[in-house]
Amino acid sequence: MHYPDELLEEIRQRNDIVDVISSYVQLKKQGGNYFGLCPFHNEKSPSFSVSGYKQMYFCFGCHAGGSVYTFIQQYENVTFPEAVQILADRAGIQLPEVEYSAQEKEMQNRKQKLLEANTEAGRYFFYQLRREQGKLGWEYLMKRELTEETCRSFGLGYSLQYSDDLVKYLRHKGFTDDIIRESGLGMFYEREGMVDKFINRVMFPIMDINGKVIAFGGRVMGDAKPKYLNSPESQIFDKSRNLYGLNFARRSRKDQFILCEGYMDVIAQHQAGFTQAVASLGTSFTSGQAAILKRYAKDVLLAYDSDNAGTAAALRALGILREAGLNGRVIDLKPYKDPDEFIKNLGAEEYQKRLDQAENGFMFEVRMAQKKYRMDDPTEKTKFYTEIARMLCRFETDIERDTYLSAVSEEYRIQEDSLKKLVIAHANSAGFAREREKRESGEYFGGRDKSAQKAADSEEREKRSQRLLLTWLVEEPGLYTKIKKYIAPGDFTDELYQKVAERIFEDLEEQKVNPAAVINMFEDMEDQRRVSELFSARLDAIDTPEEKEKALHDIVVNVKKQGFERDSAKVGSDPEALARMIAGKKALEELSKTKLT
Ligand code: UTP
Ligand code: MN
Repeated sequence: MHYPDELLEEIRQRNDIVDVISSYVQLKKQGGNYFGLCPFHNEKSPSFSVSGYKQMYFCFGCHAGGSVYTFIQQYENVTFPEAVQILADRAGIQLPEVEYSAQEKEMQNRKQKLLEANTEAGRYFFYQLRREQGKLGWEYLMKRELTEETCRSFGLGYSLQYSDDLVKYLRHKGFTDDIIRESGLGMFYEREGMVDKFINRVMFPIMDINGKVIAFGGRVMGDAKPKYLNSPESQIFDKSRNLYGLNFARRSRKDQFILCEGYMDVIAQHQAGFTQAVASLGTSFTSGQAAILKRYAKDVLLAYDSDNAGTAAALRALGILREAGLNGRVIDLKPYKDPDEFIKNLGAEEYQKRLDQAENGFMFEVRMAQKKYRMDDPTEKTKFYTEIARMLCRFETDIERDTYLSAVSEEYRIQEDSLKKLVIAHANSAGFAREREKRESGEYFGGRDKSAQKAADSEEREKRSQRLLLTWLVEEPGLYTKIKKYIAPGDFTDELYQKVAERIFEDLEEQKVNPAAVINMFEDMEDQRRVSELFSARLDAIDTPEEKEKALHDIVVNVKKQGFERDSAKVGSDPEALARMIAGKKALEELSKTKLT
């Protein structure tokens, strides 16, 4: 969905950021800005700042930041179009209807009908569970120690023993047989005609991220097979892109998710206060699900069954989490089978302890790998070490690889140096060009990290002066006329900084600076955060005009030098670099003699 920029800008202007954030966070005026306790990390003294002038927020503690849109997305955990809707509503602005083709309309219509059929069925099951006819289902849930409140919030229900009562009910509500069949709630047979899919089962509605019912899982109340029946995939139900419990978990405000296998596990955990629990839907965890989780948290604790199948599933899930850039850890549930049983037997406090002690994903993988080898046999033992070496090669950075190498060496009492050699040998034989290059330059371990650290530090210093300059220009637009002779957007070395500088310089030229609009040029929330960081650089206390002149001078010279150095490195490959370099050198000389403030 794409709205015109002018509309987005109008909505933004009609939602003053100080007003909007004030309704979520208590703010206090301090100088030109407002400060409060950051809603995105735990803190005791306020480092969360909101600027009315820049129409942006930035936290000096956790570096969260952005425009009013970013804030709503981050705070409410919603997508950009949803944030637009919320802010448009707040300002009383009607969003334009999106135009659909006849075919799209038909499709929309069908989806809508499928959703409605599921909602109706959910209501029906819910109602039956609470009647005399649903007593069996109710007794079953009580036996599983669910409270009435839990059954209500998860919308649990019961499908009666009749073979077509739901089908009849849905027809009565106006749904066509076509929709009933596609929703999976009814099945068509030549002889019997349309019959219910779910008969005499306890019903678990599966909700999407917004809490809309998109499918059901139905459990038998005894030991019959199959234990669970699930709705088939449909236009509204994609198993690999939904997670059971996510509609609640995404608002849990915990900094991690707990990923488990079963409906009952999710419910039992939520009932015990662990509202960050979600489950994949009767299939193994997918990369699509990982991508969704990543929108909300970086850490995922796995609470898979403690049997062999559960362990295999956990290993698979760890791989998927790693691919997605998420941190996986594994919860030890022993001596119980799953979270539901664990909590029933040992309670929430013990469970919390297990969460706190969850094992690092990599260490878990190594421990599981060890089980394949007989450690009293030297050949087997060597194979195990080789496997560890292979696993260590997965880490991209030296720091990470070194840290894990030390940890594994200690845990399994392996000589650290010997393991290092194995890693190098493996990297070499596997033909990892990058690894080999490092090994040959003697930089594989140690040494290089220090110089890399130094390079990173100086890059950070460079960027800091670039940030200071842009922040200063935004806060004192009058300075622009003085420095524009010396600095061009091309002097900024970071791609994002350069884009921002281009826009800000244009705006300054027209004397209309608008930091929030610059933030909104970027779609990615991480980019938005970086832009707000760019406009929030803080100078150390400046008291006198002389100090100010010196500070500004230093910053401008620094930034110019960086652009100049980059150009001189490019002379030879970039035909214009030489001309830019000469001009830059001239500007630097002139600058050293000029007063800026
Ligand atoms: P489990 O057998 O561990 O079920 O299957 P559970 O959730 O612990 O159920 P209880 O405690 O015995 O009631 C884990 C998940 O696998 C899917 C379901 O999503 C279930 O929650 N499953 C299992 C099926 O889809 N069909 C089945 O027949 C069994
Ligand atoms: Mn169970």
